[in-house]
Amino acid sequence: MSSSTAPTWIDPPDPSIGTLKQQLARSEAERQRLEAENTHLRLELKERYGFSNLVGTSGPMRQVQEQIAQVARANTTVLLRGESGTGKELLAHAIHYNSTRAKRPFVKVSCAALPHDLLESELFGVEAGAFTGAHVMRKGRFELADGGTLFLDEIGELTVAAQVKLLRVLQAREIERVGGTESIPINIRLIVATNKDLEAAIATGHFREDLYHRLNVFTIFVPPLRERKTDILLLADHFLEKLSREHHKQVRRIATPAIDMLVSYHWPGNVRELANAIERAVVVCDAGVIHGHHLPPTLQTAEASGTAPTLTLNEMLEAVEKDALQDALKSARGNRAKAARLLGATERVFNYRVRRYRIDWKRFRA
Ligand SMILES: Nc1ncnc2c1ncn2[C@@H]1O[C@H](COP(=O)(O)OP(=O)(O)OP(=O)(O)O)[C@@H](O)[C@H]1O
Ligand SMILES: [Mg+2]
Repeated sequence: MSSSTAPTWIDPPDPSIGTLKQQLARSEAERQRLEAENTHLRLELKERYGFSNLVGTSGPMRQVQEQIAQVARANTTVLLRGESGTGKELLAHAIHYNSTRAKRPFVKVSCAALPHDLLESELFGVEAGAFTGAHVMRKGRFELADGGTLFLDEIGELTVAAQVKLLRVLQAREIERVGGTESIPINIRLIVATNKDLEAAIATGHFREDLYHRLNVFTIFVPPLRERKTDILLLADHFLEKLSREHHKQVRRIATPAIDMLVSYHWPGNVRELANAIERAVVVCDAGVIHGHHLPPTLQTAEASGTAPTLTLNEMLEAVEKDALQDALKSARGNRAKAARLLGATERVFNYRVRRYRIDWKRFRA
């Protein structure tokens, strides 16, 4: 049969379908590429939020890290409490990326940023046709986090009405989309955070006690920076390295008087404020060394008004070292060998320093 007699509905082939096989191969290759990229990104995230990124070796910080390690692999609800900027969100990430759900989504909802009338549709989703403008079904954050972790940030900002709805969902372990009738089971690990005094909010009727008890299963108190002064230098160095890289500047060190100012300041904005102070200093400094005058005015006032103790570098380092030794002894409950290990020191060096600072190690025994 000659080609001219071929029926026209087969011939000529549609050029876009003609290569269906090729297309399939291409999309398979694309799928594999995306999968590889996905794996890579997850690894990167895990690295970014892994324990190694939680800077801090002070006693209180070690305790937090220990708690995170204990709870990460369980499915337990975690309540993170601490002042603004102490690292609650970073810890929520660390818990997720060290849990069995690490390969599934981490979905964050900032309760303070959501207007009350949008909260329900954001959290639970919307059925198509639920209201004017809802043309297609939209999943809520609970569904998007399926199999993974839902992080409800600033939980203390939820209105009481929203608290009632949230409690109901947590009890039933299922949701209904707005305008829907079907119950959808949810499989999420819940992490919530707040800088509010929830007990006081309960007392004034702004936070429901029943929800509080549901959330208060495993609570981690993240200490303010002023209570872990030994972490200040470590964090400052960490941010110095990170930010000078980001700003393509070669800033190598922080001068003694500037270190003095950093350590004596009370950091009401905690780690975030410290990061901002270092960023500012990296931007304005010109000769590779951060000096006192590169730091924000709030820190200058403390020093200018004479409230900042004027220590020599040696005195300051000694104070930091003494703190670190005591912190380690506290964590190790007075076991000097263990405390030495915590600081990566030999027992001999550790004991020598404990004697030098006249630290009574026996009082740390449990
Ligand atoms: N231990 C730490 N090591 C390294 N970076 C930290 C640490 N703690 C906090 N940070 C950094 O400080 C900044 C503030 O932390 P984060 O956003 O987690 O605080 P937060 O407690 O959630 O604050 P808020 O209550 O205001 O939301 C972030 O950039 C975070 O990466
Ligand atoms: Mg936060």
